[in-house]
Amino acid sequence: MKIIMLGAPGAGKGTQAKKIAAQYGIPHISTGDIFRANIKEQTALGMEAKSYMDKGQLVPDELTVKILLDRVAKDDCKNGYVLDGYPRTIPQAEVLDKAVSELNEAIDFAINVDVPDENIIHRMSGRRACLNCGATYHIEALPPKQADICDSCGSPLVIRDDDKPDTVKQRLKVYHEQTQPLIDYYQKKGILKEVDGTLDADKVFDTIKKILEA
Ligand code: AP5
Ligand code: MG
Repeated sequence: MKIIMLGAPGAGKGTQAKKIAAQYGIPHISTGDIFRANIKEQTALGMEAKSYMDKGQLVPDELTVKILLDRVAKDDCKNGYVLDGYPRTIPQAEVLDKAVSELNEAIDFAINVDVPDENIIHRMSGRRACLNCGATYHIEALPPKQADICDSCGSPLVIRDDDKPDTVKQRLKVYHEQTQPLIDYYQKKGILKEVDGTLDADKVFDTIKKILEA
């Protein structure tokens, strides 16, 4: 099963992608997480990606596409994957389609987690992230058991550099300009599924399971 998660920054793509990955035993691939891991390790890729991410801009397609293609070519992707944060532009979607069709395969679902902009700023300001294992929390909606400590791996939780309100506004602008057109793109391919992302995370996941198991 090959699944793409679409949605604005903070819509809950990562939260749902992790649940899908655990339920169906497929890898969760987040280009944002790959970039953040590179920033943490201070690689050349990480330093370049950071210069765009901190401004709320997209990392250029040339860099992003290569990373994604290398990742989905790995053995653990043979039975599928859930992509979170890729594609973000039409050219990224076209590259993925080409790679998948060369294997005589297809993307099965593009799930759009729909959350209005008004809700996003609140979600981002309460988000706490684990840079060690990628887990995400919200101080009100999904709090960790112990404040600022990751339930899964015990590492300290942090506020992401790009979750400052001004950067979030810029990310939303970029989303509407460059990423939202993908909703139409996958609608035309007949694989778009819409879910209401304003419900609580478990309810959103119930809806997604119904779609995947229909
Ligand atoms: P990325 O890491 O992908 O960030 P994003 O798309 O902006 O999305 P987020 O991770 O902020 O949100 P999310 O939808 O995963 O929500 P989450 O589940 O955490 O990308 C970061 C940057 O990297 C980009 O800006 C860009 O620069 C670069 N980049 C990455 N991929 C790229 C690409 N393909 N091309 C170019 N550049 C790329 O949830 C958010 C919060 O809400 C959390 O606190 C969570 O606990 C809470 N929450 C989740 N669900 C619910 C719910 N149902 N109810 C209440 N709260 C909830
Ligand atoms: Mg995410």
